[in-house]
Amino acid sequence: MEVIRVKDYDGMSEEAASILVERINRLDNPVLGLATGSTPEGLYKRLIEEYKQGNVSFKNVKSFNLDEYVGLEKNDPNSYYYFMKEKLFDHVDISLENVRVPNGVASDLQQECKDHEAAIQASGGIDVQLLGIGANGHIGFNEPGTPFSSKTQVVDLDESTIEANSRFFDSIEDVPTQAVSMGIETIMNSKEILLLISGAGKAEALDRLINGDVTEDLPASVLKNHPNVTVIADDAAFTVIDSK
Ligand code: F6R
Repeated sequence: MEVIRVKDYDGMSEEAASILVERINRLDNPVLGLATGSTPEGLYKRLIEEYKQGNVSFKNVKSFNLDEYVGLEKNDPNSYYYFMKEKLFDHVDISLENVRVPNGVASDLQQECKDHEAAIQASGGIDVQLLGIGANGHIGFNEPGTPFSSKTQVVDLDESTIEANSRFFDSIEDVPTQAVSMGIETIMNSKEILLLISGAGKAEALDRLINGDVTEDLPASVLKNHPNVTVIADDAAFTVIDSK
C-alpha cells in the first residue's frame, strides 16, 4: 500500500485526478470502479475540468459503481445513479450505455447483484477502483464483519452509516437501511485501487488501517493484501497518527 500524504481536500482531489487522467489516457478501454459520497466530489469536479480542457476523454470508458441504496429510483435525488449523473456523467463524454450503477429497485435484487458481478467480469475486470472509507472502516457498503470473500450483495447499513449519510436526506427516517454493494472480493479483484481519505472524522480509521491488523472488523484493512493500492490522505486524516 503506497500512502501519499497531501495538505487538504483539494490536494487529495488534485492528486487523484492526475492519477485517473493518466490511467484513462494510457488504457485503450479503461474500466473504472466509481464511488459516491463527499470524498470523490472534488475529484469529479477536476475530471470535468480536465475534460473541458481537452486533456481527457471518457468516450472509451466503462464504469461500475460500488453501490446503490435499496428502494431509491434512478431519478430520486438521493440515489447514487442521480449523484453520478449530476456530479460527473452529465458533464463529460461518457456514454450512459457504458455506465452501470446497481439498480436498487430491481424486482429481483439477488439477480441484480449477480448481474452487476457478471457485467464487471464481462468487461474484463476493473482497471482502477476508486474508494472512500467510512469512519467505521467500511469500503463500498461492506460494514465491519463482512467476509473478505463477499461478492456483490444486498447489505444492511450500520446505524453509524445511516446516521452519517442522513446529512443528505430530509430526516434520518428517510435514509434507506439497505444497499446493493459490490463485495470485498469484487473490490479486491480490481487491478488497481485508489483509496481517498479526507478529514478528521476519518483519522481513527486511517490510524487503524495503517497501524492495525488485517481484520474483517476493519473492512478497508483487506487492502493491505492487494498488490496495487494507493491511499491519498490529507493532513486532517492524519491527526490521530500525528498525535501518537
Ligand atoms: C460510496 C461508498 C462509501 C463511501 C463512504 C465515505 O459509494 O461506497 O463507502 O465512500 O461511506 O463516504 P463520504 O465520502 O461521504 O465520507
